[in-house]
Amino acid sequence: MNRTPLIAGNWKMHGARSEAVVLARALTETIGRVSGREVVIAPPFTALDPVGQVIAGSQIRLGAQNVHWEPKGAYTGEISTAMLGEAGCTYVIIGHSERRQLFGEVDETVNRRLHAALRAELVPIVCVGETLAERDADATAAIIERQVASAFAGASSTQIAGCVIAYEPVWAIGTGCTATPGQAQEVHHAIRRQLVGLASDTTAGRVRILYGGSVKAANIDALMAEPDIDGALVGGASLDPAEFTRIVCYEETQG
Ligand code: 13P
Repeated sequence: MNRTPLIAGNWKMHGARSEAVVLARALTETIGRVSGREVVIAPPFTALDPVGQVIAGSQIRLGAQNVHWEPKGAYTGEISTAMLGEAGCTYVIIGHSERRQLFGEVDETVNRRLHAALRAELVPIVCVGETLAERDADATAAIIERQVASAFAGASSTQIAGCVIAYEPVWAIGTGCTATPGQAQEVHHAIRRQLVGLASDTTAGRVRILYGGSVKAANIDALMAEPDIDGALVGGASLDPAEFTRIVCYEETQG
C-alpha cells in the first residue's frame, strides 16, 4: 500500500508573528515545491493567519495544535474548527502528550476533538505515546492500544482512513533521546494491526503513522526506512529552517 509520507512541524508555543512569518518564508523557499511527500506546519494560533498567507500557493499545508469540540459558545480560551478553517488550516494535532500531561487532556476529550475535526473536514493528527514509567513497566503496548481505541471510538472505517496517527513516546519528546527505529517500528506495526480490527485491512493500510520525539536531520533517514513509519511529527527541529528542510528531504533507503 502506497502512503504519501507526511512530515509535520509542531512549533508548539514558539513563533510570535514576525518570527513565524520569517520561518514560513524560509520554508516556502526550500520546500514549498517539494514533491512525493506532504509537509504541514503547525504554528501557534495567533500566527496561523499570517503564516497561511505566506505559504498560500505552495505545497506546505497549515495545521493547528489543538481544537475544541463545540462549534461555538461560552468556552473561554478555546478555538473552534470553523475558526481554524477560516485561518486556512487543513490539519489539526489532537491529544498531544503535552496536552495530556500538562493540561488535563484525557482519552474522552481526544475522542470528542477527533469527531469535531472529522465533521469539519480537518485531518486529525492523533497523538499517542507512553511515558518512561509505562515503558519500564512493560505497559507500552497496552497504553497505546487503549489510547488508539478510545481516540477512534465511534469513527467509521472511512473516517479512520483519512486520519493520521503520531506515535510520540513521552520520554523521547524534547529529550534528545529518540526511540530507535526498531522500537518505533514495533509500536507502529502494533498500531496498524489494531487498525485492522478497528476498521479493515484497507483502512489499516491507508492510515499514515508518524513518529515523533527528538526527530532530527541525523536520525530521519533511518526512521523513514522502517516499513510502518510514514513520516514524522517534529518539534524543536522544525524551528530551524535548514534542519527541517533536511528532514523533509530525507533520503529514501529501503529498510
Ligand atoms: P521534539 O521533536 O522537540 O522532541 O518534539 C516532538 C513533539 O512533541 C512533536 O509534536
